[in-house]
Amino acid sequence: MKKGTVWVIGASSGLGLATAQAFARDGWLVVSGARSFGESAADDPAEDGIRTFRLDVTDVQSREAFAQSALVVSPRVDALVYCAAVLVLGACETTSYAEYERVMQTNFLGMTSLVSTVLPVMRRQGKGKIVLFSSINGLLGIPFQSAYTASKHAVEGYAECLAMEVKPFGVQVCLVEPGDHRGGSQRTRLHAQGEGSASPYEAAYQTACGAIHRDESNGLLPETLGRKLVRNVNRKRMRFRLVVAKPDQRLAVVLHDVLSPALNFKILRDYYGKGGRA
Ligand SMILES: NC(=O)c1ccc[n+]([C@@H]2O[C@H](COP(=O)([O-])OP(=O)(O)OC[C@H]3O[C@@H](n4cnc5c(N)ncnc54)[C@H](OP(=O)(O)O)[C@@H]3O)[C@@H](O)[C@H]2O)c1
Repeated sequence: MKKGTVWVIGASSGLGLATAQAFARDGWLVVSGARSFGESAADDPAEDGIRTFRLDVTDVQSREAFAQSALVVSPRVDALVYCAAVLVLGACETTSYAEYERVMQTNFLGMTSLVSTVLPVMRRQGKGKIVLFSSINGLLGIPFQSAYTASKHAVEGYAECLAMEVKPFGVQVCLVEPGDHRGGSQRTRLHAQGEGSASPYEAAYQTACGAIHRDESNGLLPETLGRKLVRNVNRKRMRFRLVVAKPDQRLAVVLHDVLSPALNFKILRDYYGKGGRA
């Protein structure tokens, strides 16, 4: 007897994979989606108990096919966890319209569509839990991450609206706000096409990329986040915010809220420009 059915979106690597595995270990029926999964899942789940289906969250037909397949595996959706994201690094000036569009489609619009897909099921059930991956970047801005930061700020605002709207139907919402974690997105890091030796931001950009790379390499373990997330979903009343970050990144969020913008920008520029600690 499974604890419930959870859809984990963007579960082929990094934090999504760790989250899917943590749910499977905890006794959930896990249905996961990502572009790198095969077109149709095998009849039997993989060794770890996770059912995988191909899904491109930016494609309406792919989203519909995924939902149909998932609902055949189980007509219930007790939890939805949306992890899918891309990060395009680049200066605001050099990041193109298409690059902003790609990030918003993956990190935000795909998410809104999947939430709309599961809500009728959850309303019928009279309960459900929706977990949306934001980031520390959803709480403050970081130089050369504008597309990603904007998408995660959009997730933050959306989640607050959603939580208030769906509460009467027994549906709860959680925002996961990770700091830097190891693995995952470093493998697929995208750089704005406008970045390069001709960019007026090149020197600062390269220094910031070095700081970002160093922080990710020294980041927390995805498995720990997976366990914390599952623990939160298992609570009767989920916490709305789940920050999983090192103390310096938590401090950066507090300072962002209490310091003047000028002082806050200086601290963050120094950090990403000179490679010191925030
Ligand atoms: N790692 C960190 O330090 C960190 C920090 C803060 C927040 N986060 C957040 O945590 C989540 C996971 O990040 P991660 O670093 O673990 O990234 P990751 O390893 O790059 O994983 C991203 C996942 O999204 C999927 N994905 C990307 N585009 C997709 C699309 N169009 N359709 C379906 N799936 C798609 C990828 O699968 P395919 O490529 O197979 O499609 C992959 O499974 C993200 O929301 C990220 O913003 C991560």
